[in-house]
Amino acid sequence: MSNRFQTKQIQQLDSRHHLHPFTTHQSLRTAGPRVIVKGEGPYIFDSEGKRILDGMAGLWTTNIGYGSKELAQAAYDQMVELPFYNTFFKTTHPPVVALSRKLAEIAPPNINQVFYGSSGSESNDTAIRLIRHYWVLKGEPKRRIIISRRNAYHGSTIAAGSMGGMPHVHAHTYPLYEGFRHVIDPYWYGESFAGETPEAFGLRAARAFEEEILRSGPENVAAIAAEPVQGAGGVKIAPDSYWPEVQRIVDKYGILLLADEVITGFGRVGTWFASEYYGIRPNLITFAKAATSGYIALSGVLVDDNIVEALMAENDDFNHGYTFSGHPVACAVALKNLEIMERERLVPRVKEKTGPALAKLLARFKDHPLVGEVRSVGMLGAIELVADKKTRKRFADPGRVGLICRDHFFREGFIMRAVWDTMVCAPPLIWTDAEFEEAGAVIQKALDMTLSDVKGEMAA
Ligand SMILES: Cc1ncc(COP(=O)(O)O)c(C=O)c1O
Repeated sequence: MSNRFQTKQIQQLDSRHHLHPFTTHQSLRTAGPRVIVKGEGPYIFDSEGKRILDGMAGLWTTNIGYGSKELAQAAYDQMVELPFYNTFFKTTHPPVVALSRKLAEIAPPNINQVFYGSSGSESNDTAIRLIRHYWVLKGEPKRRIIISRRNAYHGSTIAAGSMGGMPHVHAHTYPLYEGFRHVIDPYWYGESFAGETPEAFGLRAARAFEEEILRSGPENVAAIAAEPVQGAGGVKIAPDSYWPEVQRIVDKYGILLLADEVITGFGRVGTWFASEYYGIRPNLITFAKAATSGYIALSGVLVDDNIVEALMAENDDFNHGYTFSGHPVACAVALKNLEIMERERLVPRVKEKTGPALAKLLARFKDHPLVGEVRSVGMLGAIELVADKKTRKRFADPGRVGLICRDHFFREGFIMRAVWDTMVCAPPLIWTDAEFEEAGAVIQKALDMTLSDVKGEMAA
């Protein structure tokens, strides 16, 4: 492989012509990007022929793993039949209809319609428009405020980036889009008071929504938006008390709930959607990523019957949509992807086998001197790296130790992502005992190497 792909040349051309997302361009130019050339099952391969176990499923995405010829064939067949037609002008096509029907089948019972896009960001922009349009149609146009959470990631477009709660994204949005508020995220390990139980903290974090509703004026609030598990923010898993309380607040104030399931959708926590896992009743669910296992871009918003009814009552256009809304090739691939997930029982396997296996794997490291906490739900996991286990004291210069650890993982042939100093993983749902074992050996080694790098900074 290394002969065919000339790494240096690719890196040079890349740095000359390609601007990467969320990247320090100067340092990438100096270091050069990794060149990934192939994927097969749970592995990716770089241009030097190195085989790497992908603990991040690409980017929370390749749920069925790499190299599915069935998905390639589905794309090929659809390209030959009808590579593209729009869904704007009172037209439709069989793949978009078949996929919509399938999504309605796996979505919560009150959700039967889908609006498509090509990225999670787009789907959240669509949801924002739908939410605000809904309240206009209901005769309450003042309801524009959407309450989200700090450190939420809802995408990188101006509206989705503003709805998200990441300070570094806000810093590069000139200016923020209006009408969003942000409350505490349900991050017990990082945000609880000394001695506060997860249960008590979960209630406090949920009630922050209610406080914000009252501060903003309930008559001005349109919706709450949240990821069932905050992914890019560090795989923050809410205590059990959190979601029932959020749902109670949504119901009490009669506002809408948007569940951003761009990461948690399609089996990641052991149900098709995490809303089911947490027993919440969202009015809108945004999805992307694993809908096609990442083989092609497709996203959407699942919209409940109540909102659809309001849209149907209006005898006018809803002026929103994308050229690629319901792209036939993407829909055909998504449909095949869902068929494979069902055939391989990948979703129940998360509940029965892979989810418990990930929890067991991470539990092996909870006593490691560097590790403050391990946590997981389904096939989403995190390891917190701290300078002092007892006091949860962080390392100076947040993110530095996470990167050291991430580089050790990579050198050892394994990918976990560093969110500051929290190592997160979201493996493909196809992992077997062999992959868990391989990951376990690498994690042990990488944590030990990181510990020896930062030993001088640890609490005595
Ligand atoms: C929860 C969540 N929402 C939205 C997005 C944005 O998706 P995209 O990058 O496809 O625009 C992401 C991306 O990681 C995400 O994690």
